[in-house]
Amino acid sequence: MNTVIVGQGAIGLLCYHRLSQLKKHNKANGLISLLPSTKTSLTQYSFSEINGEAKNFPLTLANNQTLTCAQLIVVCVKSYQVADALKAIHHLIADDAIIIVTHNGLGTLEEISYLFKPSQCLFALLLTQGAKKTADYHIEHTGEGESNLGIIWGEPVAEKKRHLLELMTQSLQPVNFQENIKQAQWEKIAINCVINPLSALENIDNGKINQRIYQDTVRDIIKEVVNVGAREGVELAENVLLSLVTKVAERTKKNISSMRADIMNKRRTEIDYINGYIHRLGEKHQLATPMNTKLWLAVKVLEKQYLPQ
Ligand code: PAF
Repeated sequence: MNTVIVGQGAIGLLCYHRLSQLKKHNKANGLISLLPSTKTSLTQYSFSEINGEAKNFPLTLANNQTLTCAQLIVVCVKSYQVADALKAIHHLIADDAIIIVTHNGLGTLEEISYLFKPSQCLFALLLTQGAKKTADYHIEHTGEGESNLGIIWGEPVAEKKRHLLELMTQSLQPVNFQENIKQAQWEKIAINCVINPLSALENIDNGKINQRIYQDTVRDIIKEVVNVGAREGVELAENVLLSLVTKVAERTKKNISSMRADIMNKRRTEIDYINGYIHRLGEKHQLATPMNTKLWLAVKVLEKQYLPQ
């Protein structure tokens, strides 16, 4: 599959690296190119494996021609950048292309679905791989884990779906195909609703979320997510989500969450698509979401201190 990776952040370069290395071993995999958000004249990037082995690799940049020929577009930008990134290129995307989004949070589909033709289809890839950008075009692969892939819009032919899953599994292994990706997206947003704002506001590593002092807040966040999810037709169990949050916080105990990293680096966070999304759905269904609303607003206050108004 000719593939364009959109975004030069940690996840973008990780996907680009794994797919282009796969292509090196199997020429049948088509051309892999990277579409960065800002122009670059670089011809190389540096990739450091989990075992610390670091090397430079050639960089192939995307252009209008590679975009037009792409059968697969993997959009690896933050949730708040997805709509703009796709608006800039959708007129170049082939009628039968597959588009994959990889961001945290929910709410982008509402912003982008009108851009697609009925023959195109949109997948969500929920990655549990860890990657860290240490400088521009320098990334470190920091953690492996299972990823979930599922259709959020459109219906690809079976053969294409099989080929995509094979490609993703070979490059990002292991990737499970989820018939009900919405359920997996809601489980992921529940985890992010807890770990991201609490770690950012308290300035703590993920593991500290499991401390007793946070447990009432964690429960309140989860309860609201379960209630709002039910109104959206997603059945979630409070105890299942609680144990998921505990597990992820433990597994990533020494990690800095993406939201905490955004605040530390004075970048916009994804809060509008995480707790902010739960707040908006609460309003839509006339359900109070006081804890998620409070966390959403508190992170917005932090952002306001450095983001241009
Ligand atoms: O956004 C993040 O940082 C991650 O999704 C997670 C799972 C909270 C781990 O840090």
